[in-house]
Amino acid sequence: MLDLSPRPGDLEPIETASLDELRSLQQSRLRDSVQHAYDHVPHYRAAFDAAGVHPHDVTSLDDLATLPFTTKADLRANYPFGMFAVPREHVARVHASSGTTGRPTVVGYTRADLEMWADVVARSIRAAGGRAGHILHNAYGYGLFTGGLGAHAGAERLGCTVVPVSGGMTERQVQLIEDFEPDIITVTPSYMLSVIDEMERQGIDPRATSLKVGIFGAEPWTNDMRREMEERLDMHAVDIYGLSEVIGPGVASECVETKDGLTVWEDHFYPEVVDPITLEPLPDGEEGELVFTSLTKQAMPIIRYRTRDLTRLLPGTARTMRRIEKITGRTDDMIILRGVNLFPTQIEELVMGLAPLSPHFQCVLTRRGSMDAMTVVVEHRVGVAPDAATAAGAELERLVKNRIGVSIDVDVLPPDSVERSVGKMRRIVDRRPKT
Ligand code: DLL
Repeated sequence: MLDLSPRPGDLEPIETASLDELRSLQQSRLRDSVQHAYDHVPHYRAAFDAAGVHPHDVTSLDDLATLPFTTKADLRANYPFGMFAVPREHVARVHASSGTTGRPTVVGYTRADLEMWADVVARSIRAAGGRAGHILHNAYGYGLFTGGLGAHAGAERLGCTVVPVSGGMTERQVQLIEDFEPDIITVTPSYMLSVIDEMERQGIDPRATSLKVGIFGAEPWTNDMRREMEERLDMHAVDIYGLSEVIGPGVASECVETKDGLTVWEDHFYPEVVDPITLEPLPDGEEGELVFTSLTKQAMPIIRYRTRDLTRLLPGTARTMRRIEKITGRTDDMIILRGVNLFPTQIEELVMGLAPLSPHFQCVLTRRGSMDAMTVVVEHRVGVAPDAATAAGAELERLVKNRIGVSIDVDVLPPDSVERSVGKMRRIVDRRPKT
């Protein structure tokens, strides 16, 4: 694979500033952001008043811990525009989450917010090895989802030639990759797998395409999946993280030269990790729920937003800013099976270790009598003999029992049997009766 490490002068000064410089910038930005939220968003004024805190009390980064959390429920309660801190006419764009239950969550951006967002996405693409002049095939969905337009604006900002394909129409994705010869692809990891399968179906060798870098995010994926992608595509696979409530993609991103977790763009988004039960802040290095406070957003400042994502904060390596470890999963996606907690990413790691099995799988939850049960439905790879597929399924059952400590069933199916997504993959299918 190509060496795409940054050269001297490639990085923005803040990416290599000293920790002291970074902390002092964050401190002054935090004070402004908290004051802005308090002054212009009735929800924050009421929440701060109820907690007996005032923006004047926030003089250092440590004081952040005295402020109340913000949750998705707060955003829903203020649907659609109640969390905006600027007059609606100053909001240049809105995005929204799909809202599987009830109202979607709406987020807004001023022109300056859109500029900042494009800057952090450009920084993320550069960290992944992208450069001005590269062709970037953007297969994140365009629309209310932040993936498509977010990656698009960042790629334009960096100076790439953007191919705004969006998700879906997999045959056409493959044709455009063949014809336009992009250097970079931005797409969810699960949809990338479908695109690879389609290349193989068409007799195209995925290793022979022009792609040099894949920037994968919007859903959890493991280092084992990275190895699979890099091997099958002969390119770098790097992780990008974000959420609409904080900005969209580009809150944190991996550096191609280290691939050791995602650098949080801390000059704009201040991270904390808290115990998901007690909500007490945890020291760096300990796993818990990731919480973000925006430092520069105008239209929708967000204070101590509980992401539900589980990870650890780690010291900076390729940059001064801290890293987060790859996300294990969301607290909402934790499966509690007969008292044992497990995440689909743990299943992914085990599936990826078994050569006859493909990475296409789902965890199906059912109830047998009074007990919950889980079946991992997984495809075997093309050309695998039935006996080898069955043996791999039995091995997966054994590994889950031994490593995770709970009995599950495994159904190994032929290729193309498991549901595909063009965006975020549905890893958990809950067929338990609603109580
Ligand atoms: O998924 C933004 C995004 C688009 C990120 C494209 C990266 C690439 P939402 O739809 O608001 O925004 O969903 C946010 O997706 O809280 C995580 O649970 C999950 N997520 C996003 N990126 C990652 C990642 C976009 N790299 C939610 N690893 C977040 C694991 C991720 N989970």
